[in-house]
Amino acid sequence: MTTHSDTISAIRKALGSRLAIMGHHYQADSVIRHVDLKGDSLELARKVSSVDAEHIVFCGVYFMGESAALLARPGQKVYLPEEDANCVMSQMAPAARVDAVLNRLNASGRTIVPLTYVNSSIGVKAVCGKHGGSVCTSANAETMMRWAMDRGDAILFIPDKNLARNTAGTLGIPEADWHMLDIRQDGNAVDTAAAERAKLLLWPGLCAIHARFNLRQIETARAAHPGISVIVHPECSPEVVRASDAAGSTSFIIKFVQQAPEGASIAIGTEINLVERLAQEYKGRKTIVPLLESSCSHMASVTEAKLAITLQDVQNGTAEQVRVPVGFEDHARTALERMLEACA
Ligand code: 13P
Ligand code: SF4
Repeated sequence: MTTHSDTISAIRKALGSRLAIMGHHYQADSVIRHVDLKGDSLELARKVSSVDAEHIVFCGVYFMGESAALLARPGQKVYLPEEDANCVMSQMAPAARVDAVLNRLNASGRTIVPLTYVNSSIGVKAVCGKHGGSVCTSANAETMMRWAMDRGDAILFIPDKNLARNTAGTLGIPEADWHMLDIRQDGNAVDTAAAERAKLLLWPGLCAIHARFNLRQIETARAAHPGISVIVHPECSPEVVRASDAAGSTSFIIKFVQQAPEGASIAIGTEINLVERLAQEYKGRKTIVPLLESSCSHMASVTEAKLAITLQDVQNGTAEQVRVPVGFEDHARTALERMLEACA
């Protein structure tokens, strides 16, 4: 019987260098083992421009595929094995609402620099590009927040309030200078007087998967494994980040585990696929435990079976490409390119 894995291997062999499969660290083992290039969001965005393949199959959520399509060269085609794999956090910032809130903030006459986390729609990236702003990932949020501070009177950070607060804390932007926006009523509920006093304007979005980590889990892990290190993703709340030993992107977490001495115990607060992969990889040498088994169902909706079907469609010329919505392309690309330039 031909398995999905056999189908994938046969098509990879047949298409050779015409095909590149990219994948995010949160993908399941059954998918990630077929990937040519894996990474965190920043690494994957960077790698797209160096890929020569005509066909790029992106194993991840929709915004990642959209960014890849935007950064791909003319003639390159980008596909997602599951087009409905969305990021719940990115859906918390509809582009029209971001535009309306930004217009209201701009009415003060101050220069507001919009900075969107890469976990956002192409429409939001376009709004940022159009208004002199850019994009950041969890790996470069500090650099990009400094970049934005140098260019205006205040930053509008979209959509992750946790990444924004954690980064602002590291940069020493005092809490008195932050303001959580009321984004209801199409921007009309914004407290303009409070917003005018702030240097960091926060969109009230978050990642539901990372919001599940809490202080009690950290205390339990520390009690169960004396001497354990706790590392979390910066999408966790500031309280959780402060109670941890380190916080960083998925690639940072992988490096932290790599560099830990033999025999180390590490509790990790991020998506479970990555934590389980690390636990397996270092079994018998380092103790890796999840703070909680928290799964991103959208990441998990990309399966080996769907990857096999997508590759068959690519081979047959019937696969649906990721299309960048017309009208957003130029400004969204500008926003992404500003980030890649600032972090070159
Ligand atoms: P990284 O950029 O750290 O890989 O994170 C992406 C993400 O979606 C985390 O939830
Ligand atoms: Fe989005 Fe959270 Fe899933 Fe990352 S883990 S893709 S931020 S919903």
